[in-house]
Amino acid sequence: RTVYVNGDYLPEDEAKISVFDRGFLMADAVYEVTSVLDGKLIDFDGHAVRLERSLRELDMAAPCSKDELLEIHRKLVAENGIVEGLVYLQVTRGSDGDRDFLFPAPETKPGIVLFTQNKPNLADSPASKKGAKIISIEDIRWGRRDIKTTQLLYPSMGKMMAKKAGCDDAWMVEDGYVTEGTSNNAYFIKNGTIVTRPLSTDILHGITRKAVLRLAEEAQMKIEERLFTVDEAKEADEAFTTSASAFVMPVVEIDGVQLGDGTPGPIAKRLREIYLDESR
Ligand code: PDD
Repeated sequence: RTVYVNGDYLPEDEAKISVFDRGFLMADAVYEVTSVLDGKLIDFDGHAVRLERSLRELDMAAPCSKDELLEIHRKLVAENGIVEGLVYLQVTRGSDGDRDFLFPAPETKPGIVLFTQNKPNLADSPASKKGAKIISIEDIRWGRRDIKTTQLLYPSMGKMMAKKAGCDDAWMVEDGYVTEGTSNNAYFIKNGTIVTRPLSTDILHGITRKAVLRLAEEAQMKIEERLFTVDEAKEADEAFTTSASAFVMPVVEIDGVQLGDGTPGPIAKRLREIYLDESR
């Protein structure tokens, strides 16, 4: 596969990053994951705008313009023949050649890496037909989850805890309230009302969240953006998550409690269909 590194398109085994890169040493880096359906990027603009915001919040320079970013995305998708899949983009603060807690001089060039992932069953995924089993875990991440940094150790540990428990993913809980999933936003549905946590620095402002809430509203569904507990979600009729990598993923079990009849709920399934139709 061809990857993009700091201006060059290269075979993946020829791409190089400095060992002093702060993305590598300190997770001083931000990222985006954009999905590809029928060879087309889904919501590129939303991801580009969020990237700009992440960079601004961390005082990091943009590596290139939005138009250049789009061109790199498109070129990699074409070059690697991606029909369904993902484009991963990471911008790091780079380095001036040593390990230092202080940021390097402002003129230090940021690093940029992009690669594609081929996922032939992204839209028609077997996992989405089964629905996800969720465990809840404490949210011990830092307080700026609205910035999409590459500090993904705890979310990785959360997914491992879920796997060990025979489940698919974890929802994180802070002060008694669900924040979000390890790599997705979290929702439950009770009596036809979709409930999800409001935007703040506590969660990532999901690009898929925004699109799905807009589509739900257009379909005359009721939405409540408010804090909610795991217990409330366990008593729900349905639940689901949203992300660029899984779109709308129905949730069928939370901490061993089955939701509804234990299969994906009708509203979650409908939202997934509407989202995929609209995106294509
Ligand atoms: N994760 N919350 C968290 C913590 C996330 O990591 C993600 C995305 C989301 C959903 O955001 P969006 O709808 O913009 O993808 C919410 C990506 C897909 C990942 O880490 O692979």
